[in-house]
Amino acid sequence: MQEENNPQENISETFEEALRRSDALRADFSLNPTKYRLLTGDRPTGALHIGHYFGSLKNRVALQALGIETFIVIADYQVLTDRDAVDNIPANVQELVLDYLAVGLNPESKHTHIFCHSHVPALNQLLVPFLTLVGMGELYRNPTIKEEIEAAGLTNVNAAMYTYPVHQAADILFCKGNVVPVGRDQLPHLELTRKIARRFNRRFCKDGAAVFPEPAALISEAPKILGLDGVQKMSKSRNNAIMLRATADETAALVKKAKTDTERQITYEPDKRPEVANLLQLIALCTGDDATKIAERIGDGGGGALKKTLTDALNDMLAPIRERRAALESDAVHVVHDVLKKGNAAANAVADATLTEMRRAMNMDYGV
Ligand code: TRP
Repeated sequence: MQEENNPQENISETFEEALRRSDALRADFSLNPTKYRLLTGDRPTGALHIGHYFGSLKNRVALQALGIETFIVIADYQVLTDRDAVDNIPANVQELVLDYLAVGLNPESKHTHIFCHSHVPALNQLLVPFLTLVGMGELYRNPTIKEEIEAAGLTNVNAAMYTYPVHQAADILFCKGNVVPVGRDQLPHLELTRKIARRFNRRFCKDGAAVFPEPAALISEAPKILGLDGVQKMSKSRNNAIMLRATADETAALVKKAKTDTERQITYEPDKRPEVANLLQLIALCTGDDATKIAERIGDGGGGALKKTLTDALNDMLAPIRERRAALESDAVHVVHDVLKKGNAAANAVADATLTEMRRAMNMDYGV
């Protein structure tokens, strides 16, 4: 198959197009919540921090409140692509599920399903035909994969590193997800998912009854959140993050170490004073106030007053999340078991139905 050379199959949309579609979707959500099935997910690499909260979790909770059905995939197989150790996977899955519940994702609401893709056999079977719809060149050119390989310093790259975006298409399409909240870095993967859906329908669905929707990106509007160093993106591995589960005292100590500058007068000037601006932006995200107004209020209080304001804002916002987490932690093993058991069952039911439909389209339904 030369699918990738067929110009009609290869219509790539620009970022602006994706953004426009994303805005139109947002406007329709509260009007027609049942038209949408949202699919989102994370790699289980440990507990989450406030960058995750402002970048995606908060939005997931808001969409849940609108009554939009949401599947959340814990992409445990994807962890195998860039690291050798598997020892930490169970603990990381547990931390992730506890954070999901603590921020208010509620698997008991019937709309929210949290599952691990390793436990949904039919989902993984979608991968086989999907791989025949993608060219090697497309996989090699994926900019996000290139960056990940470089960032992890991999010299020996395994095939799953290049094919996990196809697996991700299976994560999304097994439940016919039609909306995927993503950051910019995930857009190439979503674009590939759209192509796979389009190519599958065109190649196999002869009577015009498409099996798969072409899912739309819901582009996150959250600003880029820097770590407490004010330079790099917030990330646990860079040691510059505030974890959701941190205590109030740990939060205060971390903020105290945050980088600022020597000027006493606090002003919001992202280009000239990125470290100070980052802290102001975090306060703004916690309180909903405007960063410039916050700066004016702090005035000539200097870095000390700025940090005190941020510590209080974070601890106020995180208090109920942390309280919920602490209550769940006392029975973590059972809690997580129940969530995954329920979520995996829901995902398996949907995946089985989609696989049956797919086999029928591919002429592989032998009635046995
Ligand atoms: N690739 C995503 C990441 O690295 C995780 C992921 C796996 C995902 N499958 C997904 C995200 C499906 C959204 C939809 O963070």
